[in-house]
Amino acid sequence: MTQHPDTARASHALPSYLDPQHLGPWGIFLQQVDRVTPYLGNLARWVETLKRPKRILVVDVPIQMDDGTVAHFEGYRVQHNTSRGPGKGGVRFHQDVTLSEVMALAAWMSIKNAAVNVPFGGAKGGVRVDPKRLSAGELERVTRRYTSEIGIIIGPTKDIPAPDVNTNERVMAWMMDTYSMNVGETATGVVTGKPISLGGSLGRHEATGRGVFTVGAEAARRIGLDLTGARVAVQGFGNVGGVSARLFAEAGARVVAVQDHAGCVYREAGLDIPALLAHAKQHGTVAGFPQAEAIAHDAFWDVPCDILIPAALEQQITAANAPRITARLIIEGANGPTTPEADDILRDRGVLVVPDVVANAGGVTVSYFEWVQDFSSFFWSEEEINQRLVAIMKGALEAVWQVAEDKGVSLRTATFIVACERILRARDLRGLYP
Ligand SMILES: NC(=O)c1ccc[n+]([C@@H]2O[C@H](COP(=O)([O-])OP(=O)(O)OC[C@H]3O[C@@H](n4cnc5c(N)ncnc54)[C@H](O)[C@@H]3O)[C@@H](O)[C@H]2O)c1
Repeated sequence: MTQHPDTARASHALPSYLDPQHLGPWGIFLQQVDRVTPYLGNLARWVETLKRPKRILVVDVPIQMDDGTVAHFEGYRVQHNTSRGPGKGGVRFHQDVTLSEVMALAAWMSIKNAAVNVPFGGAKGGVRVDPKRLSAGELERVTRRYTSEIGIIIGPTKDIPAPDVNTNERVMAWMMDTYSMNVGETATGVVTGKPISLGGSLGRHEATGRGVFTVGAEAARRIGLDLTGARVAVQGFGNVGGVSARLFAEAGARVVAVQDHAGCVYREAGLDIPALLAHAKQHGTVAGFPQAEAIAHDAFWDVPCDILIPAALEQQITAANAPRITARLIIEGANGPTTPEADDILRDRGVLVVPDVVANAGGVTVSYFEWVQDFSSFFWSEEEINQRLVAIMKGALEAVWQVAEDKGVSLRTATFIVACERILRARDLRGLYP
């Protein structure tokens, strides 16, 4: 077949494995890259690098179910960019995981790691499974088989997974063990977010929420929003949402609404967050919490509030609900919660959005500390970890704030400018092989 010259150069073509009509979250990332390109100067010659993941591995994950049948699940590991160091990014277990989603999440990890200047590239993994429908044994078998399948591309100096939605330190322990069994040595540095007794880091469990709180409080101070009594609404009450809510409440804010996958609770005077955390732990959801009013799922977006923290899944703030949001400040705990159209609406309405790629970087920052501690087999105190975390998060926000002011762009575009410059400068210095 004769190729059209443009196709042969393929400089702007989408990879054939993507459906241009249904780009999903990857399409959002591509738009974000287009927005930053005019600011990249000579480095823009490398920008197409960002529009193609370096490596994608799709695996079949077959396991024996408790009833004796065999089930197959789709698994992915995407290494978006490794110009600045090994791949780094979480593993998600969710029934709606798609390749487009994992690609976008991997790309956002490249941006995030560069934004906080930790020496990692970006990667992400996922298994298309609803873990709530698995027994503990089935979950362990899915985790171990998936880890074994992606074992050919992960490793302490190659690509280091971590927890994400529906994965936790229990899952990380199984991943570490499986990888270690396969390579014949205990390799603690292959994953982060491990239990403390297996080379995990103090402060890792809370790190993402602590980072969300740190940059959120700093952004609030910069726009003259007093945290004392400020009304906060939180979507998602897992690791990120739960810790963020607790830290804002401890700082004197009123967490007035919390929404999770199964319910939405509201209390104008402020929810009792420790009690709500205990309820969610016991029942698996905030629904049914007695000391609050239950409100309709969609009513969450109309709740009067000063600060909104999306901390669930991507594409939650859309052109449809952005006009209804009353908050002055949105701190993105989740990855990719705001669509580009919603971003524009919020900007026009004067709502400040602290983007995911800096706001939720606390997790990977302490993951970096964990990886360093595992390599040196020397462990730091929690106080030391939290101090270093807060310093990095404040420094990163300050840097992007400055770029946003200098160039008159949103914090998101400013973060992409800082991060893409770092990634593409590394690409430029390394040059192309061969
Ligand atoms: N855990 C980390 O260290 C980390 C780091 C950076 C970013 N993130 C991102 O933060 C987000 C949350 O991650 P997590 O680790 O807290 O996950 P988690 O599994 O601990 O919690 C997810 C929460 O979201 C809720 N949720 C799910 N679907 C929902 C829906 N349709 N509507 C409302 N709520 C819904 C769940 O009920 C749960 O409360 C994800 O986007 C993840 O990628 C996590």
